[in-house]
Amino acid sequence: MAAALYGEHGFFRRERPADHFRTSVSASPVFATAIAHLVAGVDKALGHPDVLTVVDVGAGRGDLLSQVFTLLGRDDRVRPIAVELADRPAGLDPRVEWRPELPDEFAGLLIATEWLDNVPLDVAVLDPDGVPRYLLNDGDLGEPLTSDDARWVGEWWPLRDPGDVAEIGLPRDKAWADAVGRVTAGLAVAIDYGHTRADRRPTLTGFRDGREVQPRFDGSTDITAHVAVDALGVPLLRQREALAALGVDGARPPLALATADPAGYVRALSRASQAAELLAEGGLGDHWWAVRPVTIEWTPWRLSQSWTR
Ligand SMILES: C[S@@+](CC[C@H](N)C(=O)[O-])C[C@H]1O[C@@H](n2cnc3c(N)ncnc32)[C@H](O)[C@@H]1O
Repeated sequence: MAAALYGEHGFFRRERPADHFRTSVSASPVFATAIAHLVAGVDKALGHPDVLTVVDVGAGRGDLLSQVFTLLGRDDRVRPIAVELADRPAGLDPRVEWRPELPDEFAGLLIATEWLDNVPLDVAVLDPDGVPRYLLNDGDLGEPLTSDDARWVGEWWPLRDPGDVAEIGLPRDKAWADAVGRVTAGLAVAIDYGHTRADRRPTLTGFRDGREVQPRFDGSTDITAHVAVDALGVPLLRQREALAALGVDGARPPLALATADPAGYVRALSRASQAAELLAEGGLGDHWWAVRPVTIEWTPWRLSQSWTR
C-alpha cells in the first residue's frame, strides 16, 4: 500500500485527488468557510499570538489552505503550511509553505482531512489454527502478526473465527499521535470516514475516476480503508455536529426572498445545498472529527468523554 500510493510511481505522486474522489474540501467552499471560523476561534483562545500556524496534513493540492488563507484576509500573523508528499502545485499562493514533513512544533491549528485513511496499513486474517497472519497482496497468508500488531488487533478489532479479517490501524494511531505531539498549543483535528467498535468492518477499497474499484497495488488506483477512529484516543464527533457548531446551515432560504431578491435567493439556495451535502446523513455528514485541544480550554463543541470505549 505504501509503495502503491507513495512510491516513485505511486498513485499520489502523479494523480490529483479531486480527479478521483470527492472530499469535503473538493465538495464545496462552505467547508473552508467553517475551517476559517475554527482558525479564528483558535486564534482568540490563544490570545492572538504573533504567529498563528495553520498546518494541513495530506494537503492534496493545497486547496483548503488557499481558501482559508484568502478568507482570513490580510493577516501577516497567519502562517499556512501544507504538509504533502506530492509536489507543490504550480500557481499555489507563494505564502503557503509546502513541505513533505510536519514542522517539529507549532502553535495554532493542525487539520487533516482524509489523510489517515490513506496512511498505509496491513490486513490480518485469522488462519485455520487460530493464528492471526498478514494477508499478502496476492491473497496468500504470510507471517504471524508482530506482537505490537497482535496487541492492537486484540484490543481494537478482535478476530474470533478462522477467515475473520482486521485492518490494523496502529500506523494511523502512531501518525496521528506524532502529529498531535507537535502542537504546543491550539487544536488538532482529523476528519475522515471511519468506524468504531460498534460498527467495525473490513473496508479496504480502491478509487479511480470517481468510481469505487478493486484496489490495485500498481499505482493506478487510490487505496483506502476507513479509520478505526476510537483507537485514536481523542474525543469524537460527527461532521454534521461539528460543522453546525461552526455556522454551516443546510436549511433552504425563505421563499419570500425569491420575490424580494431573486439573485440573492439563488445564491442562498446554492449555499444551502452545498452545506446540505457536507451535513448529509449517509454521506459526508457521517465523517468523524477526532479533536484534541492542546493547552486551551476552548472548542466550539461540547466534547464528551464517551469516546474511549
Ligand atoms: C485523500 S487525499 C486528501 C486531500 C485533501 N486533504 C482533501 O481533503 O481533499 C490524501 C492526501 O494525503 C497525502 N499524504 C498521505 N500521507 C502523507 C504523509 N505522511 N505526509 C504528507 N502527505 C501525505 C497524499 O499524498 C494525498 O494527497
